[in-house]
Order: sequence, then structure tokens, then C-alpha cells
Amino acid sequence: MALSIEYATALEHQVREVLAQMTLEEKIGQLSLVNGARGDIPDRLREAIIEGRVGAVLNEVDVDTINELQRIAVEESRLGIPLMIGRDVIHGFKTIFPIPLGQAASWNPEVIRTCARIAALEAASTGVNWAYAPMIDIGRDPRWGRIAETLGEDPYLTGVLGAAMVRGFQGDDLAKPGSIAACAKHFAGYGASEGGRDYNTTNITENELRNVHLPPFKEALDAGVATFMVSLSDLDGIPASANAFLLRQILRHEWHYDGFVVSDWESIPQLSVHGLTANDREAAYEAANAGLDMEMVSSTYAEHLGTFVQDGRITLDQIDTMAANVLRAKFRLGLFEHPFTNPADFPAIANPEHLEAARYAALQSAVLLKNDRHTLPLFKDELRSLAVIGPLADDPYEQLGTWIFDGDLQYSQTPLQAIRQSVGDSVAVRFARALETTRSRDHDAFSEAIEAAQQSDVVVLFLGEESILSGEAHCRADIGLPGNQEALIEAIAALGKPVVLVLMAGRPLALEPVLDNVDAILFTWHPGTMAGPAIADLLFGKQVPSGKLPITFPRAAGQIPIYYAHKNTGRPPTPEKVIAIDDIEQRARQFAVGNASFYLDAGDAPLFPFGYGLSYSAFHYANIETSAPEIALGETIAISAELTNVGDYEAEEVAQLYIRDLVGNVTRPVKELKGFQKVRLKPGESTTVTFHLHTDDLAFYNRSMQRVTEPGTFHVWIGGSSEADLRSEFRIVDPEIES
Ligand code: NOJ
Repeated sequence: MALSIEYATALEHQVREVLAQMTLEEKIGQLSLVNGARGDIPDRLREAIIEGRVGAVLNEVDVDTINELQRIAVEESRLGIPLMIGRDVIHGFKTIFPIPLGQAASWNPEVIRTCARIAALEAASTGVNWAYAPMIDIGRDPRWGRIAETLGEDPYLTGVLGAAMVRGFQGDDLAKPGSIAACAKHFAGYGASEGGRDYNTTNITENELRNVHLPPFKEALDAGVATFMVSLSDLDGIPASANAFLLRQILRHEWHYDGFVVSDWESIPQLSVHGLTANDREAAYEAANAGLDMEMVSSTYAEHLGTFVQDGRITLDQIDTMAANVLRAKFRLGLFEHPFTNPADFPAIANPEHLEAARYAALQSAVLLKNDRHTLPLFKDELRSLAVIGPLADDPYEQLGTWIFDGDLQYSQTPLQAIRQSVGDSVAVRFARALETTRSRDHDAFSEAIEAAQQSDVVVLFLGEESILSGEAHCRADIGLPGNQEALIEAIAALGKPVVLVLMAGRPLALEPVLDNVDAILFTWHPGTMAGPAIADLLFGKQVPSGKLPITFPRAAGQIPIYYAHKNTGRPPTPEKVIAIDDIEQRARQFAVGNASFYLDAGDAPLFPFGYGLSYSAFHYANIETSAPEIALGETIAISAELTNVGDYEAEEVAQLYIRDLVGNVTRPVKELKGFQKVRLKPGESTTVTFHLHTDDLAFYNRSMQRVTEPGTFHVWIGGSSEADLRSEFRIVDPEIES
């Protein structure tokens, strides 16, 4: 968001004017984010607002309550400063869109922007003016429950999609009704939690931090994100809430961020639990000194900041800066002019347009992982009967996924409902739940499911994970299908009918054990309110799948972390060197097995790579070209390839551009995504996809932590996944050296 100098100056003037009238207590009050009482306004909260001891409230969603909170703040407090009203609006408000990881599988920034826009409108209609999203932590460990909330494993994809989400929440002007503040979280490194255990330690080198984890945050900042939230985790021995390197050096000094940074839930007192500080008082000191502006829920700032100023440990200037950061956001939101909400000013909740957007997002997010012998789509006209089996076929709640505080079940349309509606009377649909939950370990209801399958032409299984198996603090050590699902699939497969597996889950699953037992797999994440219509349209070929994986699917959890943009190592695996455990000769000498980086029992490759996803149609890439064999630093190169729809369906394909910087001052990944385009083509139609890369797009942090583009040779690929093999190359030259 480019803002004029006049605006910035006028804003600073307003901020300073309010600040000049504030007492120390009122300034500290702006730094306090308190948990609402969900509907009631306890006297304690009322008094605190009147006395200017509250800057923001979270978890309040009743419009009358919120208006009353704002009225107290604006009319009864001395300076009339309105409140930020925060809420975890993560993938929808009442209308629920696919989980963020699912939205990322759309590779469609416009879809993501639209979902966030609608979420913002629905949330804003209740008075919420601050969403705790996007979560742009890089997620490379599917055991981690919060992988569901990420936009996947890749810094570039996460950056582009995270920025789109910011634009959706904030609109083109934060001050307009219906725009709400976004929050880039969790700053930083949360996704690297050890072993995929939530809240766990992260040890990330500065180079890795700058090259992998921070870029999406910079993108969000450039998109104008109004607020940042710190991570609950410890980064190299200093928890993010007290990490001055992150909050001062990077965010303020290098990036010139002038909004506010909020703690995570009680993350300041938790500094003592981490063992960084001995008590709340020291925790407050460390956090404030590190540059953390606002405290979520706990009250160490309220209790201690004042005394630090009196003791001279923290200057009044520091408190002024913190309060100014908060006030600036409130002015930008237009809260001083429009503190109140009239729901009638907003479109109705879950109106047809919102539901249609939810359907479209679910459609765009689904990834076809397998489709042997064109099992999908199913042709209604040729079908007499269909067995719909599984605990996720008809559950309006579980299809919504994690973080749906306000999601409204009454709008959910389930796959079973939609399938029945779609086929009408012409196809006999037999439903069997088979398992009470995805975790059930019994097989009591298998016989009913087997009977339904036996009587049907085709079986569609709805399996995966319930909502509760992913999300905050819901991590898994085994990422296979939980409970007795594998046994169910085996029992159904034994009947010899065509079997379609529709999966809903909050993370990549290890699917190798069931791969050969099913003919087709459609991975739909947790698709949200409109799961049913989207899935039915895909099953019956009214729509063609176009999602691509935003994260690698391992064969087994033991391969984690496994991601496409890994380093080459000094001993990369090659087909000759990768030997399977069963093929090793007895008494083989130590290096008879290739001395390369791989697993004897899982090889080196994932089950499904990043960027992968099938279509009912087929796409062919050819003739990759660069606009020049070499370019100088500061110039732009065009890279293009011909893309043809060689299948029978009009369909969309995500053309992906990858590069490899062959030699670097620090080693570079074997492939890096640098561009993508989602293109729709008719059968037989061709187009040229062209990507433009400026040499700055190829920059990285070197060993001195400077962001540089180095002259040298680059490989470049265009294709339909990170395993694209259509390659060209170009060189970057430094005119000052080589001319
Ligand atoms: C803790 C989570 O880590 C964060 O993402 C969320 O926004 C806050 N709780 C508020 O609910």
C-alpha cells in the first residue's frame, strides 16, 4: 500500500496529538489486549476501559456487546480512544472456506483474496476489526498440527498468497468499512518447531531464517499488513517475545515497520516458563525492551511497565513508541471516525455470493493425487448405483477443519447431500458410515459398508482426519490414516469394485500403505462449508481438479523434514546409488550401498512432490526459451514455454517456474519456485506461458547476511510440479566486471 507523504505526516500529527494528552497509565493501557467475556461486560472490564487501561479486546463477536465496548471507550474514557477488537478469523467467519493449507493448494491468489475479503465483511459486520491471520510460518513438518493453518512449505508461494490474504482482509483502504486489520503471524520461525511438536524449540541459523522463514513476512509488510504477532516458540535460545533481533533489528530497523506487534496468548509470562526470566516482572521488562508492543491476555505490562519508567529501566520514550504504534493502527483503521458497527451496512452472512465463493475455493483447492484408468470423473448416465462410505461423508462439522470459532454448521453442505442432489433418482446411493470416527479402531460396522459396496457399481470412500486432529497443539507422530481406516480400505478393495478415495485432512498424510488399494484419490483438505457441492462437481466431472500440492507428501513420517527446495549436499542421491533395503546383498561391504543421502527403507523421494496435482485432462510443456542467454545485474529476463492441453477436458493448469542458482556464496537449494500462473485451456489448445524475472528476484542472503544477486549460471524449469524436467539456463553478468 503506497501512502503519500502528506498522509503519513498528518497521521503522525494525529498520533502525537493524542499521545501528548495521555498519562503514563493511559499509554500503558493501549498496550493491553484483554480477553472478552463473550457477551457480558463484567464491571471489571467496564471500569478498566473507562480508566483507559485497555487498548484492545479479543474473542467478542456479538455486535451489541462490541458496540457497547466501543461506546464505553469512546464516550466514557477520558480520551475516547476506540478499541481494537480481535478475533481468530482464520479461514472464514460464519462462511467457512478451506483451511489455509487447502486454500494454498489452489495456487490462486485471487481465491485467497476473495476468501479473506468475505471473512472480513462477515467479521466486520459484528464489529471485529482485527483478524489474527494470515499465518505465514513456513511449514515443513506435517506432524505439526498447525501445518493446517500455514500456506505450505515454500517461501515464495507463502509470500504471494499471504500478501493476497492481507489484501483481502484490509481491502484497498484500511479505513473503509469492511476492511479489517490483518496480522502477520507468528514472527518468526514457529514452523520449525522441533519434531513437529507444537510450541517447541526452534534452532534456525540466521541464514536459513533470512532466506526461508522471513521472506513471507516481508511480503506481508509490503502488502501493508497492519499488525504482527510473535511466535510462542524459542528461537535459538531467545523466545520470540523477547527477541530483539527479530523485533528491533529486523522488523523495525531493517524493514521500517511502524505498526504494532502483539504477543501471543500469555507469551510474555511464559518467558519465565521457557526459563529466560525468573518472574513476570522480568518477563515484562525483556519483552518491552525487545520491542513487543501489546500484551495478549496476561497483564505483566499493566503491572510492571509503570514502575520500570519510574525506576529508569525503561524510558518514557520507549513507552511512547509502543503506544504510538498502537494508535497509528487505530487511526489507519479509521476507528476514531467510525468506532461503531451497524450490521445492516454489510452484506448478509453466508449469502449466496459467499457460499458460491466457498464452493469455488473448495473446488480450486482439491488435489487429484491418483486417477488410474480414468476412474474419475464418474459418469452419472453410466452409473446405476454408488456406495458412499466413511465417517466424513456426511458430517457438517468435520469438513470445516480447525479454527472455526464462528463457523456456522447450519450452512454446511455435506458430500453425501450434494451427491444425492447431483444424481437425483437415477443412481441408487447407499451410505454407510463404517467407522464412528476417523480414529475408531473397531470394525463393527464394516459388514454394512461392505454390503453397500457389494451392491454398487462404484465406491466412494470419505476418509482422513477429523478437524480435531490438526490445529494448535494437535500434532501427530504418525501421519498415516488414523484408526482402522487402512483395514476398511483393504476390505473394500478386496471386492474388486472401482474405489475412489476422497480425503479430508489438516495435513499431508502418509498414503503409501493404501495407494495400491484405491483407483483414485482426491485430497480435499478440510474444504469448509461448501465441501459437498465442490466435491460432487469434481466427482461427476462438472468441474476438473486443478489444485497442486503446496507441501510435499512424504512416504513415511520418518522422511520428515522433506521438501523440494532442499540443498544438494555433497553426496546427493542418484538412481544408481539409491538402493532398497531388500536389494542389499547379505554380507555386503559397507560402501557396496551407495554413499549418498537417502533412506534404505524409504529412498530419497517423497510420495507426491510439491507442486504436484493431476487433472482429468493432461498437459504438455515444450519449447522452453529464455529471452537472452545472459542478462546484466539490474535487468529482467523472460522465460517462456509452450503449454498444451493434450487431454479431453477444458481444464486449468498451474504452470510453475523454478530456478537453481548453481554456485553461491552460500549453498543454494536444488530448486526454488519463482513464479506460477494458473491457466485455463480447452482440449487441444496451446498457449505460451511467460515469466519475467528481474535479477533482484534471484537475490538471497549470503554469508555476511547481505541480500545479493550473484552473477553466474542459473538453471530454469517450467512445468507442472517441482519435478518439472523441461530445462533451460541463462547467465547473470556483472557489467562492471565483465564489460
Ligand atoms: C494462540 C495462537 O498461537 C494464535 O495464533 C492465536 O491468534 C491466539 N492464540 C489468539 O487466539
